[in-house]
Amino acid sequence: MPHIVVFAGQAGQRNAYRQHLSAAAAAAGLEITLHMDPETVDPGTVDYLVFAANGPVQDFTRYTKLSGILNLWAGIEAVLELGPPMDVPLVRMVEDGLTLGMIDYVAGHVLRHHLDVDRYIHTSPIAEWEVDYPPLARDRTVGILGLGALGGACAAHLAAHGFRVIGWSRSPKEIPGVECRSGAEALDETIAEAEILVLLLPLTDQTHRILNARRIAQMPRDACLINAARGPLVDHRALLEALNAALLRHATMDVCDVEPLPPEDPYWAHPRVTITPHIASVTRPETASEAIIAQIARHRRGEPFLHVVDRARGY
Ligand SMILES: NC(=O)c1ccc[n+]([C@@H]2O[C@H](COP(=O)([O-])OP(=O)(O)OC[C@H]3O[C@@H](n4cnc5c(N)ncnc54)[C@H](OP(=O)(O)O)[C@@H]3O)[C@@H](O)[C@H]2O)c1
Repeated sequence: MPHIVVFAGQAGQRNAYRQHLSAAAAAAGLEITLHMDPETVDPGTVDYLVFAANGPVQDFTRYTKLSGILNLWAGIEAVLELGPPMDVPLVRMVEDGLTLGMIDYVAGHVLRHHLDVDRYIHTSPIAEWEVDYPPLARDRTVGILGLGALGGACAAHLAAHGFRVIGWSRSPKEIPGVECRSGAEALDETIAEAEILVLLLPLTDQTHRILNARRIAQMPRDACLINAARGPLVDHRALLEALNAALLRHATMDVCDVEPLPPEDPYWAHPRVTITPHIASVTRPETASEAIIAQIARHRRGEPFLHVVDRARGY
């Protein structure tokens, strides 16, 4: 009997995922019965749920036979709020398209701040040519908090470009060209050295407001922040004060506490703030389908899923 896979992502993505999941399953020689609308299948028969927290399934109780919940997003805090069954593996999305997109976003915004591109773009004639050159990448320190699938890939990319990259994670890591650090003390040191600080941590009880007022005060003068992870990692009142006092040069934020960021939020008009609308990276149906089918194929072979969420750690 083919295994039953149900797509419980947003309805607008059904066509793309139907095509790519079917193609990936055929290429892998994996027999599945694919349902794109959860309403059309008995939940008690479903083996694998391809899931998004903003999709049509909000209650797992009738999915009694599940072997795995395959999340379409890297971040899983919204899924955990729905109370997925503890005895069913919850798998985070790790896929090439998502990773490569994040590398592009982070590299682009790091280079903007490194070169101080905004300062040198003039929209009217200027009397004098600027003679103040930006340093070389090798003389610029980029700090990355979170060295997982996304942070680790961005760190490796920026190091290969030539930046001095210091990274911080819970457990020790080895990434070529990157000074990898772990532990509480190393966090403060990393923040204090990073001229450009990139946040790629998951949102958990431990990381909520991890960039608090004390740590923002430790950032080097004129430092830039890039938050490509989750808004609540940052104490926004403290950040705004530091930006208003010109202690920090710029904050680029792809994520906010409330999304979309309300029109009255002071960030919108702030000359030292760039807001992007949660577009740093996105799960791409073609590459994500290959990753999902590879995960199901592993499970069918009796191997454990990769990237299973540790419910105690919260990511
Ligand atoms: N803006 C966007 O468009 C977008 C797109 C995709 C993802 N995201 C966000 O990016 C986040 C990261 O994704 P990912 O796939 O890279 O996650 P991941 O592979 O789980 O990596 C998380 C990293 O953070 C570290 N970490 C977690 N808690 C920590 C703590 N308390 N102290 C120190 N280090 C800690 C982990 O350390 P260990 O390695 O030691 O476990 C790991 O290095 C997601 O959770 C999501 O919120 C945003």
